[in-house]
Amino acid sequence: MKTRKLGTLEVSEIGYGTMSFAPSYGQAPDAGEAIRVIRGAHELGVTFFDTAEAYGPWTNEELVGEALAPVRDKVLIATKFGFKFVPGQGIVGLDSRPEQIKAVAEASLKRLRTDVIDLFYQHRVDPGVPIEDVAGAVKDLIGEGKLRHFGLSEAAAGTVRRAHAVQPITAIQSEYSLWTRDPEPEILQLCEELGIGFVPWSPLGQGFLTGKIDTTTAFDATDMRKLFPRFTPEAMEANKAIVDLLQELAVAKKATPAQIAIAWLLTRKPWIVPIPGTRNLKRVEENIGASDVVLTAEDLAEIEKAAAGIAIEGARLPQALLQMSYK
Ligand SMILES: NC(=O)c1ccc[n+]([C@@H]2O[C@H](COP(=O)([O-])OP(=O)(O)OC[C@H]3O[C@@H](n4cnc5c(N)ncnc54)[C@H](OP(=O)(O)O)[C@@H]3O)[C@@H](O)[C@H]2O)c1
Repeated sequence: MKTRKLGTLEVSEIGYGTMSFAPSYGQAPDAGEAIRVIRGAHELGVTFFDTAEAYGPWTNEELVGEALAPVRDKVLIATKFGFKFVPGQGIVGLDSRPEQIKAVAEASLKRLRTDVIDLFYQHRVDPGVPIEDVAGAVKDLIGEGKLRHFGLSEAAAGTVRRAHAVQPITAIQSEYSLWTRDPEPEILQLCEELGIGFVPWSPLGQGFLTGKIDTTTAFDATDMRKLFPRFTPEAMEANKAIVDLLQELAVAKKATPAQIAIAWLLTRKPWIVPIPGTRNLKRVEENIGASDVVLTAEDLAEIEKAAAGIAIEGARLPQALLQMSYK
């Protein structure tokens, strides 16, 4: 697969998000199958794998560590710190105190079965800890050889600037896709100015942009999309127009809607690396096939024009999560 640069870190141009092997989008396969899919993604050319302490919590890092152990020197692993957990209650807040960051790094290294983490993101900005202290803790860990690169997720532009002045940032990871364009007005320009890469999460709109989800989809009781305002039947009906647009282009390009959604992101900037997630190896293959889809300037203008006429209904996240973003 072609590669791209996130700052100085060279990764496959499409990465792989492993979150859905932890409780998120309904029933996940057993560990054996999950490991087969993760290893299969690497065999197909993916070298950039995304996980987080919060996925599970902890179990997803363990899974990724086990899956990638045999090929550890051929892949790059990104993980994240910064949530606070209480056993039995899950996430109860944020915690990016320097001593906590250092403790999480040590624990993540063990779970990931590695002696260095390639990219360590703060999962959400913690308003209780100055970002300079967070960047300082990460800088110490890089100095000790435990981490290679620093990232922020869903951070505001001012926060990115302050952190970058203490420890250069390699990548910003925020939600970005054809139906979530929040990073465009500020963050992408800032990435360009500072030489920071950008990693769009949920590049397939949590699956909606693939056209495989509609008002007839029955989400499992544990599926978090049940709580997402964009996944109410009314919002899905209203937002079908964006899927129709992708579907039309897919037919014209002999591709799939998922591939068009990912290919569109690849055209936005040469330092953008989407990390689609799926529990299905065939779909990994489909998604990385987006690398071969060519969208011309005309196609892009057509997408822009059509998308401008579609008002996306529903907030991208539930209110409690939205409040943690762009801090
Ligand atoms: N930084 C953050 O706060 C944050 C937040 C969310 C996610 N992330 C990261 O971003 C990664 C990707 O985001 P995401 O998993 O939320 O959303 P996504 O990649 O936009 O979509 C994932 C969903 O799409 C489905 N899907 C994937 N490929 C498909 C295809 N070709 N055809 C039909 N359906 C397909 C998957 O179902 P199946 O599994 O059934 O195929 C899954 O339900 C995560 O794994 C995680 O690493 C980060």
